[in-house]
Amino acid sequence: MSEETSILDRYGVMGHPIAHSRSPVIHKLFAMQTGEQLRYELLDVEAAALEQAIRRFQGSGGRGLNITVPHKQSVCMLCDHLSERANTAGAANTLIFKDNEITGDNTDGIGLLRDLVVNLDLSIEGSDILILGAGGATRGIVGPLLEMSPKAVTIANRTPDRAETLKARFDELGTIKAVGFGDIVDDHTYDLVINATSAGVRGEAPPYPAGALGHNTVCYDLSYGLKPTPFTVWARDRGAARAVMGWGMLVEQAAESFRLWRGIRPETGPVLKQIRVSA
Ligand code: ATR
Repeated sequence: MSEETSILDRYGVMGHPIAHSRSPVIHKLFAMQTGEQLRYELLDVEAAALEQAIRRFQGSGGRGLNITVPHKQSVCMLCDHLSERANTAGAANTLIFKDNEITGDNTDGIGLLRDLVVNLDLSIEGSDILILGAGGATRGIVGPLLEMSPKAVTIANRTPDRAETLKARFDELGTIKAVGFGDIVDDHTYDLVINATSAGVRGEAPPYPAGALGHNTVCYDLSYGLKPTPFTVWARDRGAARAVMGWGMLVEQAAESFRLWRGIRPETGPVLKQIRVSA
């Protein structure tokens, strides 16, 4: 390790698998843009080794971590403090190491909202939202979406019990419904349909609910890729008003993490353009 590398503040992203992660590139671009001196590493850690890896990172003077699939829920157990939004979600994607203590936060929801509201100019207030999937990704976004006063948020999941569990968790924050994936009513269209399943990533294509889409429906896939994702292809074929991949959310959640760590929020627009080009 060169002397310059060793004195730079240390950050990273921990998950499994992790090789595909764009986070190192994004944070490098943020650091260049803001003039912050840091290094950001890719850390492939399996579930059984998570605690040890985090303690080692902490012991070596690490300043912050992003946490991704599959550790966002389990990492909460290792935190000394949780932000309100991480606590509500029951999931953390950002860790801050300070004074020998770990604080867990969750920037996924704010990242999605910033992409929807600021970048895509959508209004959430009064809108009827359908979320497909009830896993870790959904946990991070339901609370922040409900805070924007939508008309209702419906969570549809292949395993209906998981949707019910999330409904119970977020019930007091707003109008929330839980249904099975196959029970989505055919003649009810939504303003916004968010794909938070991991189906596309696994190369699977569930029977997405065609009846939920009207010509004004915006479809947003939390997944992203070099090519359009199966969900965005499907949405376009069905005549959705817009079909958007989650590149914007990825960059916005990263910018919020960067702000928590460094106290400065980078400009996301140029970075979003750059990573789309270089992806
Ligand atoms: P993540 O952290 O990415 O959300 P997860 O917690 O494993 O990962 O959740 C994955 C989500 O995608 C779940 O809602 C899962 O549905 P189940 O709860 O029924 O497993 C959903 N999912 C994955 N593959 C799917 C498929 N082929 N069809 C429908 N839903 C699928």
